Amino acid sequence: MRPLPCVPGVAAAAALLLLLLPRARADEHEHTYQDKEEVVLWMNTVGPYHNRQETYKYFSLPFCVGSKKSISHYHETLGEALQGVELEFSGLDIKFKDDVMPATYCEIDLDKEKRDAFVYAIKNHYWYQMYIDDLPIWGIVGEADENGEDYYLWTYKKLEIGFNGNRIVDVNLTSEGKVKLVPNTKIQMSYSVKWKKSDVKFEDRFDKYLDPSFFQHRIHWFSIFNSFMMVIFLVGLVSMILMRTLRKDYARYSKEEEMDDMDRDLGDEYGWKQVHGDVFRPSSHPLIFSSLIGSGCQIFAVSLIVIIVAMIEDLYTERGSMLSTAIFVYAATSPVNGYFGGSLYARQGGRRWIKQMFIGAFLIPAMVCGTAFFINFIAIYYHASRAIPFGTMVAVCCICFFVILPLNLVGTILGRNLSGQPNFPCRVNAVPRPIPEKKWFMEPAVIVCLGGILPFGSIFIEMYFIFTSFWAYKIYYVYGFMMLVLVILCIVTVCVTIVQWTSFLSAASTAIYVYMYSFYYYFFKTKMYGLFQTSFYFGYMAVFSTALGIMCGAIGYMGTSAFVRKIYTNVKID
Ligand SMILES: *[C@@H]1O[C@H](CO)[C@@H](O)[C@H](O)[C@H]1NC(C)=O
Repeated sequence: MRPLPCVPGVAAAAALLLLLLPRARADEHEHTYQDKEEVVLWMNTVGPYHNRQETYKYFSLPFCVGSKKSISHYHETLGEALQGVELEFSGLDIKFKDDVMPATYCEIDLDKEKRDAFVYAIKNHYWYQMYIDDLPIWGIVGEADENGEDYYLWTYKKLEIGFNGNRIVDVNLTSEGKVKLVPNTKIQMSYSVKWKKSDVKFEDRFDKYLDPSFFQHRIHWFSIFNSFMMVIFLVGLVSMILMRTLRKDYARYSKEEEMDDMDRDLGDEYGWKQVHGDVFRPSSHPLIFSSLIGSGCQIFAVSLIVIIVAMIEDLYTERGSMLSTAIFVYAATSPVNGYFGGSLYARQGGRRWIKQMFIGAFLIPAMVCGTAFFINFIAIYYHASRAIPFGTMVAVCCICFFVILPLNLVGTILGRNLSGQPNFPCRVNAVPRPIPEKKWFMEPAVIVCLGGILPFGSIFIEMYFIFTSFWAYKIYYVYGFMMLVLVILCIVTVCVTIVQWTSFLSAASTAIYVYMYSFYYYFFKTKMYGLFQTSFYFGYMAVFSTALGIMCGAIGYMGTSAFVRKIYTNVKID
């Protein structure tokens, strides 16, 4: 672990942002090798197959290290450190285009304790992961026989590496040499390396990890088509209803204007015009409301940018680069948060703008860090490699205070000065109008719950793919579809909220459905078990759902407030 300098000031902020950018090791940086040049096999993690996030250092199991001198390693990027990548040198002697005949590289002195460790690992279907030239390799630790009494360890790693010119393009691992685990014996670990010429292009070498039969384009297109139909239906419905009532009301309002004042005073206002004195009333909790809107806008910006970056660049080819990119983009888009949160707060007549800025800036980071902190305790207890190193925690705190906060301040100041004036089309009455009695299905709670159904319906198929790529071993790569789904989600959310006027909460209730879906997914689609994995799953699913809810809420609010402003600008209200 490299010590992280943390000196307050702009220099530190810049350095931290640089730290976020992915960098590669010098020796593997080029991905080109000369004949007989050393190729490093990195051992990463080992863990139960069904619990993807529960990983431990490879050498936490009593495996032995090859004789070659070790190469020191540190976490390259923040993303890697946060995702629990723990590369350690295997000690295997591998040279480019140099075949190795089957050879023993070390011996395990199997005492009772080590045997128990292996038996536990085999019982829990442990498998391990390695990297060679950044290509991941998976192997299984061992096997139990049918009646579950005898346990066997795979002791022979047969590596077949494909090369194209001076680059490594393919690698296959076959585990052989099943040896029964008997206490107080010696187990010899062996390996062999075979180099094969391959036609795979270097750029395409990650293609074999993608799973087109899982991410069936047909299903995606079907779901997009479905949602798209829903969008057309919704937009049609909304515009039809609104056009009708609005046009009728507009006609009547303009007719009334021609009447003299006497007549007008007799007739009461009706329709949406009668609430003109209340629609632009500031929310009852402007501080938290504007912070939520600001954060939601930022989350939306981050999602948009990250998806676009992921569409252009194959982020999955580099360990942890997705997370690093997301953190970088999050830090860089802080002014968005400040701008929308700060200006809304100013328009609503809030005075404590510094407090609002702090709340807005730290709402999401506090939520994520709080969950991470809680899960970290369990990870430390389990000695899992997910336990976040102290230096990384310091780095994250530094990013919050020296990057996110100042950028947020810039955004807040801009927002307050550029669009902080309350310029509502009509005056707000001093006394709030009493809200009339409603039928049960018009109660806000019911409307809020119903509001999330359609947006959730438009995204849940994509949710399945996203969940599976995160909680199981699939690499998500169809970011084009994700983009389409995000666009559809926006349109559906805005349509739904325009009809209802309860904009923030009814859009945010999508998150409740997503979180409920995650329970279904946990129990029916995965085989996770254990305290660590379960709390990791539900903790981060809660964070994900909340973030999604805040984003949808902000989208709904923005869309509806633009719409409401538009219709009230078009009528004269005295
Ligand atoms: C690895 O396995 C795949 C599938 O069996 C095969 O097509 C490929 O040629 C193998 N690569 C090497 C280097 O042996």
